[in-house]
Amino acid sequence: MSEKKFNVAIAGATGAVGNQMIICLEESNLPVKAVKFLASSRSAGRKLRFKGDLITVEELTENSFKGMDIALFSAGGGTSKNFAPFAAKDGCVVIDNSSAWRMDPKVPLGVPEVNPHAVAEYTNKGIIANPNCSTIQMVVPLCPIHKKCGIKRIVVSTYQAVSGTGKKAIDELFDQTRSMINFLDYDINVYPHRIAFNCLPHIDVFLENGYTKEEVKMVDETRKILEDDTIGITATTVRVPVFFSHSESVNIETKKHISANEVKLLLEKAPGIKVVDDPEKNIYPLAIDAAGQDLTLVGRIRDDESIPNGINMWVVADNIRKGAATNTIQIAEILAEKYL
Ligand code: A2P
Repeated sequence: MSEKKFNVAIAGATGAVGNQMIICLEESNLPVKAVKFLASSRSAGRKLRFKGDLITVEELTENSFKGMDIALFSAGGGTSKNFAPFAAKDGCVVIDNSSAWRMDPKVPLGVPEVNPHAVAEYTNKGIIANPNCSTIQMVVPLCPIHKKCGIKRIVVSTYQAVSGTGKKAIDELFDQTRSMINFLDYDINVYPHRIAFNCLPHIDVFLENGYTKEEVKMVDETRKILEDDTIGITATTVRVPVFFSHSESVNIETKKHISANEVKLLLEKAPGIKVVDDPEKNIYPLAIDAAGQDLTLVGRIRDDESIPNGINMWVVADNIRKGAATNTIQIAEILAEKYL
């Protein structure tokens, strides 16, 4: 890391991911000169702590980024679409956690363990996109397998935590659960159905082809990050009553054969991964173990006996940390160290 220090803005600092970005920034090696916390006018004046100091939240405006070097955005797609160009115009590099810029061919989509070289393309628009949480944790273990054997097809089903929807959803799961165990009436505001003690096969909006936008994001973003449009991918994304950490059942078909044992050995050496796989002792990746740390946990690695070159695995990561804030900070660290 160079001696230079950076002014860092967080847009959406009062939200679930924004809060975690503050914590990850405090924990990171990024040399920070000053921080600016931005949110909507509703939060202007609130105070948030950073390394012991109280920082007053400011309303996000077109002029918020003057003098800033790096802006981390997690304030929704519309806000990113509207305000990221103002930051870029003022010479502040945006790392955006929304879906607004991810599939823009001029905007890199970065997962540091997979395609750190992509960060260099920030110069095109001054924006780097952070992938969707469920995509990040899937490509981390798939990248080394793809490099070694070539992945032909991916079938993924997700079990996604409510924190991915934001603070309101965390509150809704808590309130509904408390009401139900006390035999009280409950409100349904965030999702179309009750989330407590339920599973909703519906994340983001439905598209004409019957898939949800979340499912299509997983397909498109995985191909972009792995830099291979030939991979066949099909996804079913499901919201489950879990607060933190997404779990995924990932089935792959490879071009060259690889055994489950070889996959385990490969992933044990891969960056950002912890293999947690001793089923006889009831040891496998759990949402509660992934929450609060940055590794992607991989287990239940087994041969898919229905095809010659198939592997099944269970992949779990903290969606707010590795799936969002941590990945953003890792990108910022690469940017600061190599390019700014
Ligand atoms: P605010 O708290 O003032 O509403 P979450 O994903 O947890 O719901 O958080 C969303 C984050 O994005 C919050 O920090 C929220 O600020 C912020 N946000 C939402 N809309 C806007 C907007 N139009 N301008 C700036 N920040 C916004």
